[in-house]
Amino acid sequence: MTDWTRLIRDVPGFPKPGIVFKDIMPMLADAQAFAAAIEALAAPWREARIDAVLCIEARGFLLGAPVARALGAGMVPVRKPGKLPGAVIEQRYALEYGEDALQVQADALPPGTRVLLVDDVLATGGTLAATRLLAERLQADVVGAAVLIELGFLAGRARWHDAAPLRAALTL
Ligand code: PRP
Repeated sequence: MTDWTRLIRDVPGFPKPGIVFKDIMPMLADAQAFAAAIEALAAPWREARIDAVLCIEARGFLLGAPVARALGAGMVPVRKPGKLPGAVIEQRYALEYGEDALQVQADALPPGTRVLLVDDVLATGGTLAATRLLAERLQADVVGAAVLIELGFLAGRARWHDAAPLRAALTL
């Protein structure tokens, strides 16, 4: 199978000095690498009876939607505030400096829906932990989480608290 990892590009100093950004765009643009990456994300969950994939804005949309199709599941966007119409529930979470928030539509899922969380990168873990709290507030059954890249040196996994299996297609 194609080595999709060689098309993840390091961009030093983006979006701010001191950060090395993991740019997945070259991988997405390559048909075989994109297919291989989606397969790597989806394969561990084939037998998990996932009903819906919670996809985290914005790059989580690019990966979560094809993972949902690969698993025969629906997809639910988890968005930054002010983007979703109708009643929403919101989860705030701490950043290194300050705070951010994510929202999901209040009627997005029936209680008991088996969900998989998908995002591109696990860094400090705040985003994924906040999404799990949103899923739990929707009374979803959080089967697990799949990220394309885990930045192991940032120890974001600790904020997941082993709540459910968390699988990374690539750990750096
Ligand atoms: C990035 C990335 C994850 C999150 C991980 O999102 O896509 O969602 O940060 O960081 P954490 O583990 O420290 O919470 P970003 O806010 O850059 O959004 P984008 O996907 O919309 O560019």
